[in-house]
Amino acid sequence: MAEPEALKYMSGFGNEFATEDPRCPGALPEGQNNPQKCPYDMYAEQLSGTAFTAPRAHNKRSWLYRIRPSVLHTPFKPINNGNMTNNWDSWPPNPNQLRWRPFDMPGEGAAEVDFVQGLSTVCGAGDTRSRHGAAIHIYACNSSMSEKSFYNSDGDFLIVPQQGELLIYTEFGKMLVNPNEICVIQQGMKFSVFVNGPSRGYVLEVFDGHFTLPDLGPIGANGLANPRDFLTPMAWFEDRPSDYTMISKFQGKLFAAGQRHSPYDVAAWHGNYHPYKYDLEKFMVINAVAFDHADPSIFTVLTCQSNKPGTAIADFVIFPPRWSVQERTFRPPYYHRNCMSEFMGLIKGKYEAKEEGFQPGGASLHSMMTPHGPDATCFENASNAPLKAERIADGTMAFMFESCLSLALTEWGDKTCQKVDPSYYEVWQPLQKRFKAEDGQAMA
Ligand SMILES: [Fe+2]
Repeated sequence: MAEPEALKYMSGFGNEFATEDPRCPGALPEGQNNPQKCPYDMYAEQLSGTAFTAPRAHNKRSWLYRIRPSVLHTPFKPINNGNMTNNWDSWPPNPNQLRWRPFDMPGEGAAEVDFVQGLSTVCGAGDTRSRHGAAIHIYACNSSMSEKSFYNSDGDFLIVPQQGELLIYTEFGKMLVNPNEICVIQQGMKFSVFVNGPSRGYVLEVFDGHFTLPDLGPIGANGLANPRDFLTPMAWFEDRPSDYTMISKFQGKLFAAGQRHSPYDVAAWHGNYHPYKYDLEKFMVINAVAFDHADPSIFTVLTCQSNKPGTAIADFVIFPPRWSVQERTFRPPYYHRNCMSEFMGLIKGKYEAKEEGFQPGGASLHSMMTPHGPDATCFENASNAPLKAERIADGTMAFMFESCLSLALTEWGDKTCQKVDPSYYEVWQPLQKRFKAEDGQAMA
């Protein structure tokens, strides 16, 4: 693993950055994207993240100045997909509330599994070919991607580490991403993940477009995830001969090609299409301060919008440590039936609405219109607790991937992983009828 102090970042969300590796001063051409000859005799290559003609406010592209162009590789051949899939029709639908115990990590003495090999798909919907949909994967790995690089031709990855730090080499530079941080690696960006030992986390993949910061409306100019807290790596390159394997996820399948050089040979780049990371501790929490319960959308970090106004292909929402102060209010999350799908994970600690059973490294899925809400113990306690100002979720970070899509469960998610908790429904069974007529008698 590289020393973290060697990693250098630029701050801002979706900014037009310009950066060059200090070992190659002047590597970035001045005033022209593609000169007849680039500085240091490099190749200029554009990576487009939107259509050429996307409106300027949405247009995403970067120019990379690299030692060799990306096209220098042998033909791609299909490889084993493992437990990663974008096929949503191979397993029957399951509308139940679902909860998973912590997903397995490769144990002691287990075979080496890297980030790509360790991707397992829990659920998803849509189609990579028509660029509409989302998938939720778990990664569990114990070894680094040695001389192996991956890019996703189908969409963007939002990676949520739960255990183990990830050192991620990208074409744009290197990032260190620890649990309680997230990173986004967008469509087409080459990357390799290096780990220190058993590592686990969650991946939200979106096919439609890119993540943006939510609009703030009357909140104003500041709040939630502030743009300056997003960090993008500065240019870094290596120039060495190698037998590199390039892996592309293309139309839901994995393909491998060979090349005789490191893909991390970009000495300079500029543009607004780049990977980034974000520390969840830096989220500015906004909440109700008088009475009633704000919807969880107030905790939205990033959103990938559909074509329907205000309706997300996927929102990334967190439940950070905060003060709870509402008066005459049932404070935990309300009972709910939603026209969206809600997948939750836990990075650390205990989630307030489910103190037991929902564990770090596990997950839950409350599908479209599937009823959910606090368990019986939580309901009882929160209905009777004295309502003083109190801290909640200290030491905890739960999150939600919320999607307008009806997410289909995979065979791995429902069966193969063997982590589905069949007793989950029981947490609500002790909920009693409490209704009484005004004379104190139950109504006939
Ligand atoms: Fe909900």
